[in-house]
Amino acid sequence: MRTQVGIIGAGPAGLFLSELLHRHGIASVILESRSREEIEGTIRAGVLENWTVDLMNQLGVGERMMREGHFHTGITLRFKGQSHHLDMVELTGGKKVTVYPQHEVIKDLVAHRLAQGAEIHFGVKDVALHDIVSDRPFITYAQADGTPAMLTCDFIAGCDGFHGPSRQAIPAAARKEFQKIYPYGWLGILTEAPPSHHELIYARHDRGFALLSMRSPEIQRLYIQCDPKDDMALWPDARIWSELHQRLETVDGWTLTEGPIIQKGIIAMRSFVCETMRHGRLFLAGDAAHIVPPTGAKGLNLAVADVLVLSRALEKFYAQGDGAGLDAYAATCLARIWKGERFSWYMTTMLHTDEAASPFEHRIREADLDYVVSSRAAATALAENYVGLPI
Ligand code: FAD
Ligand code: DHB
Repeated sequence: MRTQVGIIGAGPAGLFLSELLHRHGIASVILESRSREEIEGTIRAGVLENWTVDLMNQLGVGERMMREGHFHTGITLRFKGQSHHLDMVELTGGKKVTVYPQHEVIKDLVAHRLAQGAEIHFGVKDVALHDIVSDRPFITYAQADGTPAMLTCDFIAGCDGFHGPSRQAIPAAARKEFQKIYPYGWLGILTEAPPSHHELIYARHDRGFALLSMRSPEIQRLYIQCDPKDDMALWPDARIWSELHQRLETVDGWTLTEGPIIQKGIIAMRSFVCETMRHGRLFLAGDAAHIVPPTGAKGLNLAVADVLVLSRALEKFYAQGDGAGLDAYAATCLARIWKGERFSWYMTTMLHTDEAASPFEHRIREADLDYVVSSRAAATALAENYVGLPI
């Protein structure tokens, strides 16, 4: 089989890339190791940056998001029992916060691409990249039924997440990797209860961080800081609710609505960047090249930004034979990625409780929060990062 761009992975990076390339008349094939049901059912990120929402609409995949998404004018920061509202719309000159879950974005993109006749091969195995430093790279894999197959292409887009094979296909000597592992995990739940608040609440508490989000008028999404090595068995429902009540409580008696917990899981947190994001004809995008802790709600949005830059560069290459955009790809993306890394680290550090931190560091984090809610300049800096920096 042959195509122009071979895409490994049908996450946000791979699916948005395929859609964007299609707009430019560039053919692609997606190879995905999981089934369609699995990728459409995995609960992950929830917040879309302002421009990501605009892009979904421009691509004609935003109709359900506009109907079912939650559009918020701001977020609440909560600490020492007090709530502080940050008005994002006012601070950023009109930009909003949109909660529309990643798996719904995936569903919309898969349906749209398949309706356009796109080739997405689900359930493939043993994906391997070959001859990436040549003008005829190829990918070998086993189809879902085990039949060996080969995809030759002009370019390979490695959109296969942190654990995929693409980054490893770049020789170690050509890669420089930066990493920070945090001593925090997030225990995330979905609960059948109407949202307790109309906007997101990020709470710092001596017992640890908590976040209130939502999925629908009937379902809340909540996260609490835990030990990343904790076993789920340590977290019976009663303990989860007790911690959420304590960490989200306010002096003026705000209440958290409870309901049956229908899904729960723990994720670990890391910051990671791979420099470079290009080797020969292989381009890395999204989690394959960089990871952020989820506190800044940036992971999905950074992935989409990469493929927007890549699609523009490929369009220039195919339309005008101009490879300058491809040559600049890694540097263009990394300049913005490092700002996303910085913001995600800042939000994580400011809002989590680190047992190993000194009393001095605790006070500094509280002062950081106090500064954000008392200085318009500091609030504006947080807001412009949260709604998404320009691309
Ligand atoms: P992915 O979404 O990881 O997609 C990669 C795709 O490649 C997957 O579908 C995978 O099956 C496929 N793949 C992997 N290996 C192969 C292979 N060998 N062959 C073929 N296909 C392969 N971000 C937030 O902002 N907020 C959150 O709350 C949040 N929660 C998260 C929870 C979890 C458990 C994880 C893992 C991430 C979370 N993130 C969150 C981050 C966010 O979801 C990611 O940044 C985003 O999914 C990145 O998109 P991507 O397309 O680059 O990678
Ligand atoms: C959600 C996830 C985040 O990482 C975040 O910062 C805000 C909301 C969510 O899943 O709703």
